[in-house]
Amino acid sequence: MLLSVSDLESGYGRARVLFGVSLEVESGQLVCVMGRNGVGKTTLLNTVMGVLPATSGTVAFDGRDVTRLKPHERVRLGMGYVPQGHQCFPQLSVLGNLLVTVEAAKQPKSAIDEALDLFPALKPMLKRSAGHLSGGQQQQLAMARALVTRPRMLILDEPTEGIQPSIILEIEAAIERLHASGLAVLLVEQYLDIALRLADRFLILDAGHVVRTGDAGELQREDVRRLLAV
Ligand SMILES: Nc1ncnc2c1ncn2[C@@H]1O[C@H](COP(=O)(O)OP(=O)(O)OP(=O)(O)O)[C@@H](O)[C@H]1O
Ligand SMILES: [Mg+2]
Repeated sequence: MLLSVSDLESGYGRARVLFGVSLEVESGQLVCVMGRNGVGKTTLLNTVMGVLPATSGTVAFDGRDVTRLKPHERVRLGMGYVPQGHQCFPQLSVLGNLLVTVEAAKQPKSAIDEALDLFPALKPMLKRSAGHLSGGQQQQLAMARALVTRPRMLILDEPTEGIQPSIILEIEAAIERLHASGLAVLLVEQYLDIALRLADRFLILDAGHVVRTGDAGELQREDVRRLLAV
């Protein structure tokens, strides 16, 4: 198992948000985390990455307990993370954003060309300030930044949120290609149709509990859809 999360609990101050969440992602598998607004999806990813400390439970990556490691240490082990809201350095150019990240991750500059091949729309914009890109372009840049760290698993928090439809298709196609190339993906996605097309497995969170897991096809079932309806 590439990623094993067991009985994970975390929250903010005294407010507990996750209540014993367990999940697994096999090498090369795409697992989609779903659930209504505010159920704890981002909290889960932040705890998996160590941005937020786990109050109990464990996170293991590639057989190694990473529960107490810092986020950048998890990145170095191969966990790539694109947080919700796709944070980039707005003052830096597109290329500057990629260079800073590739250097911090001690990867060769060729990793930048590989990442850009997946997002050709960024190529004519390398000198532009990241802050001047559209939301969709910033999301693509954020994904490219995660890829230049050469992850074995990509963790994506709502990459299609608030993004215009044509770019959503580009982002979906990029995730599809990454998955097809053998990269494992843990994806938070609210659009059911995208989850259906991309995922191997899914899990649904509700109020910090896993209330359902299954193969992606089961997302078509009425009882499953009811768990996601607003
Ligand atoms: N920084 C924070 N401090 C305190 N409470 C927070 C913080 N971030 C989130 N919460 C609370 O934790 C709960 C889970 O939030 P979280 O952002 O994980 O949900 P989510 O499923 O990602 O929602 P969304 O679909 O809107 O992205 C919510 O009740 C939220 O209000
Ligand atoms: Mg969220």
